[in-house]
Amino acid sequence: MNNVLLVGSGAREVAIAKKIKKSRGPLSLFCIAPSTNPQIKPLTVSYFERSLRDVDEVVSLAKKLSIDIAIVGPENPLEIGLVDALEEGGILCVGPRKSVAKIETSKAFARNILDLCDPEKNPERMEFSSLVGVKSFLKNLGEQYVIKCDGLMGGKGVKVSGEHLNSIHESLSYAKSIVDSGGTFLIEEKFLGEEFSLMSFCDGTYCAHMPAVQDHKRVFDGDVGPNTGGMGTYSFANHSLPFLSKEDIAAAQKTNERVALELYKQTGEKFRGVLYGGFMLTSSGVKVIEYNARFGDPEAVNVLSILETDFMDICKAIVSGSLKDLKIVFSRKATVCKYAVPEGYPNKPSRDFEVVCNTSLDGLYLAAVQEKNGVLTATGSRTAAFIGIDRDIVVAERVAEKGVGSIGGKLFHRKDIGTSALISRRVKHMKDVLS
Ligand code: AMP
Ligand code: GLY
Repeated sequence: MNNVLLVGSGAREVAIAKKIKKSRGPLSLFCIAPSTNPQIKPLTVSYFERSLRDVDEVVSLAKKLSIDIAIVGPENPLEIGLVDALEEGGILCVGPRKSVAKIETSKAFARNILDLCDPEKNPERMEFSSLVGVKSFLKNLGEQYVIKCDGLMGGKGVKVSGEHLNSIHESLSYAKSIVDSGGTFLIEEKFLGEEFSLMSFCDGTYCAHMPAVQDHKRVFDGDVGPNTGGMGTYSFANHSLPFLSKEDIAAAQKTNERVALELYKQTGEKFRGVLYGGFMLTSSGVKVIEYNARFGDPEAVNVLSILETDFMDICKAIVSGSLKDLKIVFSRKATVCKYAVPEGYPNKPSRDFEVVCNTSLDGLYLAAVQEKNGVLTATGSRTAAFIGIDRDIVVAERVAEKGVGSIGGKLFHRKDIGTSALISRRVKHMKDVLS
């Protein structure tokens, strides 16, 4: 398996590319993505700018390059069946086929899978394609609800009562906007508690779990503002989080294992890739917020930075179904990762402004940028992440803060992620919820 193809070009894919290059085997790395990431390009033999929507073109290029194994980073190509087509072309893939990637691409499907294998982790909920019955369901939920547009929305299609929706009237107009654009939506009971992400490498029947990470979806400090793709993440040296018990982590791991097996049972297709459970610890135990069918972005930066096992060995074990025979080790270090995003993000992001940074810095992970004649410009989504890694999370946070603050441009970032003050607030909040 010498010819390795990486699909995608965000910060998550920079983290994957760095790991592939550290693999001990002789290999040639290729990348296909809609735009050129200036940190990935120098790690490749060849880099191809192609639309990932053009599945036939990507597969034919991969065949021409004699790719042995492809690693698919983002969710959109999974949804349109890129993995199905690559595998039919004889190329092994780390990333699930369309029928099982549905665990991310359809929120209703994910809830139904969970009903079959771990129902108590589901919220009370209902699916809608019109406004009929919406008002009475919102009232049934005691006006504590979440409205989720069904489909891939880059983390931005979810609105929570009391935060983004402040009256039944506002909620009905959000629901109407989804219906008017031809979409369907889910209304769910609103959970109260602390969120965490638990990702597992999965070969279809066995899950090897990664350290727990906490992401921050709201755009501003103090968790206010609209939802985003994620503003930053932290993880602890003990691979848990200070508001979680061993039992909570075990419950989340068990759910990922059950979901992987249920997907196989329901579709006949093995989920090969990274299964990402988004959880919330509540007063009635661990609950599921959502599932993703890939590495989180930037969660991949946290976990891959401390992965000690050869990443290509893991990829090979995923495609050959032998994960349970591989010992996967993460170093006992804390990580804090912060994203710099354009002013106005996520609703009206500035774009086309210059981004000034030293691209060879170890902790820097470029995302939505392009390079022309040596000048980096922002393309409007999350721009660049910076990670700090240390045994002590206080030090990791300082490194991340200094690094992300040094990126020049019309950018901002959350200063609170990973700070002692924020973590103490999380612990206190969880205590209050549990008491
Ligand atoms: P999702 O895209 O499903 O991860 O949702 C984005 C964010 O909305 C999550 O990270 C949570 O903060 C919030 N959220 C989603 N579903 C729920 C729920 N049932 N209860 C409370 N918060 C939720
Ligand atoms: N950081 C959240 C995600 O990747 O979906």
